[in-house]
Amino acid sequence: MRGVFYGQFFKEDFMQDYKLQVANAISAAIDSQLSQDEILSKIEIPKALNLGDYAFPAFVLSKVLRKAPQAIAAELVEKIDQTGFEKIEAVGPYVNFFLDKQAYAKAILAEVLAAKENFGNQDLGAGRQVPIDMSSPNIAKPMSMGHLRSTVIGNSIANLMAKVNYKPVKINHLGDWGTQFGKLMCAYEMWGSEAEIKADPIATLLKYYVRFHEEAEAKPELNDQARHWFKRLEDGDAEATRLWKWFREESLKEFMEVYDELEISFDSYNGEAFYNDKMDEIVELLEEKHLLKESQGAQIVDLDKYNLNPALIKRSDGATLYITRDLAAALYRKRTYDFAQSLYVVGNEQTNHFKQLKAVLKEMGYNWSDDIHHIPFGLITSGGKKLSTRAGRVILLQEVLNDAVNLATKQIEEKNPTLANKAEVAHQVGVGAVVFHDLKNERLNNFDFDLEEVVRFEGETGPYVQYSRARAMSILRKAGVDADAVTGSYDLNDPEAWETLRLLGDFPAIVKRAVTEYEPSVVAKYAIHLAKAFNKYYAHSRILADDEQKQARLAMVAAVATVLKEALRLLGVGAPDEM
Ligand code: ARG
Repeated sequence: MRGVFYGQFFKEDFMQDYKLQVANAISAAIDSQLSQDEILSKIEIPKALNLGDYAFPAFVLSKVLRKAPQAIAAELVEKIDQTGFEKIEAVGPYVNFFLDKQAYAKAILAEVLAAKENFGNQDLGAGRQVPIDMSSPNIAKPMSMGHLRSTVIGNSIANLMAKVNYKPVKINHLGDWGTQFGKLMCAYEMWGSEAEIKADPIATLLKYYVRFHEEAEAKPELNDQARHWFKRLEDGDAEATRLWKWFREESLKEFMEVYDELEISFDSYNGEAFYNDKMDEIVELLEEKHLLKESQGAQIVDLDKYNLNPALIKRSDGATLYITRDLAAALYRKRTYDFAQSLYVVGNEQTNHFKQLKAVLKEMGYNWSDDIHHIPFGLITSGGKKLSTRAGRVILLQEVLNDAVNLATKQIEEKNPTLANKAEVAHQVGVGAVVFHDLKNERLNNFDFDLEEVVRFEGETGPYVQYSRARAMSILRKAGVDADAVTGSYDLNDPEAWETLRLLGDFPAIVKRAVTEYEPSVVAKYAIHLAKAFNKYYAHSRILADDEQKQARLAMVAAVATVLKEALRLLGVGAPDEM
């Protein structure tokens, strides 16, 4: 299968041809007991390379042939035409296929070095748009580790989507509306200072908020004043609107510092407030479709048949709710982007909310609700404990990132004190380490965060992958070879290189799996695997030795550097050429 994408010709799934070759060989050796498709679906990839590159389980034929699978495997090996393979072997009930290593080496190196960073691109999306609701912190509150997870997972999913020809639209659905603004305004009126907010926006606003709650315990009338402020805001009062805009802007400025540090940008900052004038339509539509029911003065949509609690659309005081905004947002996104899929990267504690959202849209008759996917993720813990604001375990993101950069700086000082752009590299390594650590864990798992562990140059870390690639680049520099313009022979005949070569060929399938499972960890784990294989190769071979294989070895080094850099890019992690 050949795909044209970004003007390059390359295989969408590099390994597909080899799998077909195996299927054809089997097909020719049996008497049509299995169709080509059936054979393809049965072919396995052995766990260890010494069992070959592909395996066919002979027991799938034992019923029709009425023979023991071992016997079938042995007979098949006799019958199969071995041309084009290094060897074919029966091991127990399996037929193991070993690819022609030299031919494969040539093909994969030619492919990677021609496609470069486009290697692994494929056309699953046909250019259709995919809004990704991600990050979405709440104004006037610190960005939590949960928001960090949403930001980096969402960003990586966006990169992956783009690689398979979807058009991602990164949306920061800011929590910029709600009764808390009434409290903040009330607090600001009583003891606020403009200068104080400007100097340290989020901490100051948080301080006002906490103090408001403390004082309101003794003076409950403060709550009435806050409600009044919020009403003014909802009615479009000039002063309330000015304060709201200003709090929003100041908070956003601080969030931007984190986004800049992560080098993550958004296509839209339409938050909850954006849907203020779009919820009436939702309520009308729900009424028209007779979906709204009254319950204790509130308006609800019954979701009994979905086994879900009713969705609360309008409170008894007329205020609309989180889900009402999300209904308006879903419809707005469908109309604006005509999306192929609409993703929400939000913690798994909101699973129920998104089930309700999809169910209400379904009830409204929108079949595209099936294209809405909540991408949940687990918690970051510290010493096994949940990080939460309430328990006083607020970990400020900015601090985590700064500490990571400092740790990276220390290690670079030790390893490479004369490095030219130390600060820049330390930034890529420190921030990259935090991002990589987040993404290498399956997103639904909770995981522990220990900074020392995360920034280590050894072990399964981001810095390890970066370091491995920098090593590849340094070999190329020594050899005077430009990684992006490798020419010469790709005729690599080196058993030590086999694991690395095979892994290179897996990359397109890895990308596809990461996309279909919305799981960046698939790419992160692959990058670790490839880095390990390459380092093993490096330890066992004299890459720069002057023999007839030198060019081919350097070609492989360049291919590894290219694929590692692209894998890191998909994760949102930089790849310094030297570190
Ligand atoms: N602001 C919300 C929170 O911090 C997350 C919003 C997620 N996006 C959405 N469309 N509901 O919990």
